[in-house]
Amino acid sequence: MQQELTNKLQQLYEDALSTCQQGSPADYIPALAKANAQLFAVSIASQQLTTQLGDSTERFTLQSIVKVISFMVATEARGVEEVMHYVDLEPTGDAFNSMIRLESSKPGKPFNPMINAGAITIASLLHGTTPNEKVDTVLDFLEQLLHKRPSINGEVFLSEFDTAHRNRAIAYHLKANGFIVGDVETALKAYLLLCSIEVTTQDLAKMGLFLATDGEGAPFISPHILKITKALMMTCGMYNASGKVAAFIGIPAKSGVSGGVLACLKDATIEGHHGAIGIGLFSPAIDDVGNSVASMHMLKQLADHYHLSYF
Ligand code: DON
Repeated sequence: MQQELTNKLQQLYEDALSTCQQGSPADYIPALAKANAQLFAVSIASQQLTTQLGDSTERFTLQSIVKVISFMVATEARGVEEVMHYVDLEPTGDAFNSMIRLESSKPGKPFNPMINAGAITIASLLHGTTPNEKVDTVLDFLEQLLHKRPSINGEVFLSEFDTAHRNRAIAYHLKANGFIVGDVETALKAYLLLCSIEVTTQDLAKMGLFLATDGEGAPFISPHILKITKALMMTCGMYNASGKVAAFIGIPAKSGVSGGVLACLKDATIEGHHGAIGIGLFSPAIDDVGNSVASMHMLKQLADHYHLSYF
């Protein structure tokens, strides 16, 4: 059932919308630079209701949000132990008194699946020998979850593929250290295709609800993998701002440079929504770290007003 908008939600949306101008669309991927910086959409989904604010039918590419999905699919296919052989689950990977970063990080195992290095390794672990076969395993999962098969934005993919010098360097470095399974260009191409999967905030809210319920009624990812995924979102999902997001918002979330944010709440109340809740947000203007300014402002306001922090 679609919820009538309450004044409070509308007011929080208007407040967050006014912060768009504090950021700007990502420009290191040329096709993302031309996004309309004023767009802002929020979707909230629970088992009873859905709520839409702004243009929740606007499509955008998942970018780093796909790291959450590809981690789940690869881990379901290979098991936690095998995945952890190739990618760690640590925000930094350093011991509490480590000085190692003063020199360099060895053996070069990616710290976690939410950074590019970890996500490229995860792409190499997806079943399939070609990039498209690997991506199909993720699209199959999303199709089961969303009841539609998401498209891939070819323009964004090509734009990133042509300029992916840093990701290519990371991928070859990983290969040299034994952290890519199979062909390195296949893993890189699969990773970039995955980043170019298109969704709406309504789709993100459904994904958030799936995570929030530990996959209830849709048992194609094991509950223990969903729990690990949410822990990764809380500790590593918002890049260099993950600690502050945990401290001041306290909700497991994952952002992407196109301006999307996926969030999930196990047991909360937001107006007519009660229990497990998924939230999808999108606004292309991002901050220095890569998080959508208006989306993070909205999430903070929701957390404060509806007491959503886990802590
Ligand atoms: O690999 C990249 O740089 C992009 N395809 C994804 C990065 C990203 O979304 C980081 N997000 N905050």
